[in-house]
Amino acid sequence: MNKLKIGIVGCGGIARNRHIPAFQELNEITDIVAVHDINYDLAKNVAENNNIEFVMEDYQQMFELVDAIAVCTPNKFHAEISIAALNSGVHVFCEKPMALNKLECERMVEAANHSGKLLAIGYHYRFTDAAMTAKKAILNGAVGDPLVIRTQALRRRKVPGWGVFTNKLLQGGGSLIDYGCHLLDLSLWLLEDNEPVEILAKTYNRLSKTPNQINDWGTFNHETFDVDDHVSCFIIFKDNASMQFECSWAANIKDDSKHLSISGVDGGISLYPFELYQHKYGTCFTEKAVVDHDETLAAKRQATNFVKSCLGEADLVVKPEEAQRTSLIIDAIYKSSVEGRSIRLSNV
Ligand SMILES: NC(=O)c1ccc[n+]([C@@H]2O[C@H](COP(=O)([O-])OP(=O)(O)OC[C@H]3O[C@@H](n4cnc5c(N)ncnc54)[C@H](O)[C@@H]3O)[C@@H](O)[C@H]2O)c1
Repeated sequence: MNKLKIGIVGCGGIARNRHIPAFQELNEITDIVAVHDINYDLAKNVAENNNIEFVMEDYQQMFELVDAIAVCTPNKFHAEISIAALNSGVHVFCEKPMALNKLECERMVEAANHSGKLLAIGYHYRFTDAAMTAKKAILNGAVGDPLVIRTQALRRRKVPGWGVFTNKLLQGGGSLIDYGCHLLDLSLWLLEDNEPVEILAKTYNRLSKTPNQINDWGTFNHETFDVDDHVSCFIIFKDNASMQFECSWAANIKDDSKHLSISGVDGGISLYPFELYQHKYGTCFTEKAVVDHDETLAAKRQATNFVKSCLGEADLVVKPEEAQRTSLIIDAIYKSSVEGRSIRLSNV
């Protein structure tokens, strides 16, 4: 059988710790043949440590050697690199968020459609047992029409102190575009065809702009910090459902927490821990399931789904149009906060 030849663009933390091991574990159906990073010595080192044959000085040179690339650079470069690869007939797995904004996402989707190549986005939370079980339960009618969704991705003091995560120009934003996007994407995926229509949001960064902050994930410069560290938002859906969404890297809260629950007409669901809420036999029932949020396992499933989809043996779980919708909502949240008013999504 032909193996899928993969190239890695950007050899930082996520490439080294997640994608290279996940693709290399699939060595019966794929090979990583080339790497590139603007830091050539880093790319060379990564190639040596992982037995990868080619180190490219220019990422475009890679396109002649590979069937697919994984884009693992800061967000600013996701669109440019993905579009160049798609236009050269190369499938693309691109890390989340899809791009800096909706317009870039649209150009990426256009390039994918035009080339006929696949474009997958790294929303790996969808591949966890908790998410997949929730999807099955919802499709099976466990919740019915959704009414109120509560989604939280909260960290008390975890501003990433490495890389360029606090640089707006290179990342497009902070806690929302980096961390909140996962739970936002997962919520939208679980809500299926429920279309978000209006958003009211506030973003903050007062804590991270204050000197001498405590931070569990390294250090950063409070003077140059120019992204959000805490976001609060209310989203209305076409069918009258509403979502209370909040995310943070830094907030004065008791603990880090992850929460996604849907209260619907026929029942309710909560993912962390996994529970179903129903009323039957004249009383309220709570059913628990032992399902995990194992991100390493999710990353392996994500890699398998991408490789098998490129080989024509599976369908992408994270479709680019869906990731584009998540980016549209991120744009609207930032716009709402800047303009101090609610935003109709048809106007973003
Ligand atoms: N799915 C997740 O949970 C998750 C987790 C972490 C990071 N990410 C995403 O992965 C991407 C990279 O994050 P990271 O943690 O690896 O960051 P990082 O800072 O550790 O690594 C980024 C690498 O990209 C290289 N680079 C910068 N500009 C480049 C360019 N134009 N061309 C080629 N290489 C370039 C840098 O030299 C660096 O080695 C980001 O988009 C981030 O949002 C996703």
